[in-house]
Amino acid sequence: MSSVDVLLGLQWGDEGKGKVVDYLAPQYEVVARFQGGPNAGHTLEFDGHKHVLHQIPSGIFHDGITNVVGNGVVLDPITFRRELTELDPFGIDYTSRLIVSDRAQVILPTHRMLDRAYEHAKGDSKIGSTLRGIGPTYQDKMARVGLRVGDLLEKDFKDRYCALRDRHARILDQHGFEFDITAEEEQFWEAIEVMRSLQITDTQYLINDFLRSGKSVLAEGAQGSLLDVDFGSYPFVTSSNTVSAGACTGLGVAPRQIGDVFGIFKAYCTRVGSGPFPTELHGEEGERLRKKGNEFGATTGRPRRCGWLDLPALKYAVMINGVTQLYMMKADVLAEIGDVEVCTGYTNGTGEIDHLPLNYDRDEWQTVSKSFPSWSEDIPADFDRFPSQLSEYIGYIESHVEVPITLVSVGPDRTQTIIKSRESAIEA
Ligand code: GDP
Ligand code: IMO
Ligand code: MG
Repeated sequence: MSSVDVLLGLQWGDEGKGKVVDYLAPQYEVVARFQGGPNAGHTLEFDGHKHVLHQIPSGIFHDGITNVVGNGVVLDPITFRRELTELDPFGIDYTSRLIVSDRAQVILPTHRMLDRAYEHAKGDSKIGSTLRGIGPTYQDKMARVGLRVGDLLEKDFKDRYCALRDRHARILDQHGFEFDITAEEEQFWEAIEVMRSLQITDTQYLINDFLRSGKSVLAEGAQGSLLDVDFGSYPFVTSSNTVSAGACTGLGVAPRQIGDVFGIFKAYCTRVGSGPFPTELHGEEGERLRKKGNEFGATTGRPRRCGWLDLPALKYAVMINGVTQLYMMKADVLAEIGDVEVCTGYTNGTGEIDHLPLNYDRDEWQTVSKSFPSWSEDIPADFDRFPSQLSEYIGYIESHVEVPITLVSVGPDRTQTIIKSRESAIEA
């Protein structure tokens, strides 16, 4: 019996999950998404091409790998179809490589409109949602009125679609939201036809059969732990469990089947949308990181808020997820940037804490930081030959969170990835 390794983001998303899943994929036979939907934007770069995947698992470019969209995902047929079309120039045979859970929830055009209406109604306290219909679709799932991918194979699907659409229309009317979905509905039905031509099945059986036959499975997280609906900076979160436990409910695997948990983080921090961000850098300092790191959303194109690494938050995410190995991304962005800061705790004048308060209020808490010198741009592809400043930075993080960093990424391309050799991992 093999196990499911999980790779997930430890911050507010966009840590570089797509790049690393694509890099690790050849070591696995199955790559599976377990939560989220088109709010995700996972970037992969190789052979001079850049691909952004939203709903398709990041193993899709590798021959011989099965890519599963699990039951915990919310799927938008229109954007899914668009993504599949974008694969065409690369000759990817997605009908054989891709399998969709019959229990994944379907995002309707009206779910996206509800997202807009709810955000608008929140005014200044808006979440900064990607407006892809994620929240309203998970809401319908929990309210037990949603439609599942398996339902679109049933004869009464159209009637059930119309009933849910009309229910949404009544809510939109109450919000005074004017809309016309004629064009969107046309696209929706075309996309449903494409969905019907894909492999749709009860993927919980499939994945457990894979495990029983010794096949290795990599679960690909979306968003990040600080956006988790239970453990993130609520209410400024997404509507799913982004943490490792979500892989169990989002794929149908038992907790004891989980193997390694790879926790991925940027050498600094970014966030898109609203909500607390203790180490955020404003003005020119933030702009410098944004420019050097090219920090613009892969889904919405919005500029990402940028700041220093937050160790209490990282340690918290490591704890909640049971991280066994840490992967540090974007080490190149902090090279030759002057002093690099790391937040080690928060203080309110009367005392210092290193856990996350229920509500982080910038007026009440200030960050306590430690400075490190940055390293040179020339980073050899060998942990043992890293510039001493980078080794010191890595060592400090490892001693603080007590999990080894075994992968360092130094650029967006698949090849710009440095793995710690087994020998140096054992010495450490
Ligand atoms: P994901 O949502 O976690 O898959 O991350 P995104 O794709 O949204 O954002 C990560 C961005 O950083 C993408 O533009 C990647 O191409 C880029 N990236 C990933 N790793 C590195 C790295 O080590 N260095 C640099 N400079 N860019 C990277
Ligand atoms: P990946 O998988 C970064 C953020 C949104 C917003 C909040 C809620 O690429 O890391 P939602 O649309 O889910 O209702 O938005 O969560 N958000 C992300 N931020 N990366 C993501 O995905 C995100 N998915 C959602 O900006 O603040
Ligand atoms: Mg992203």
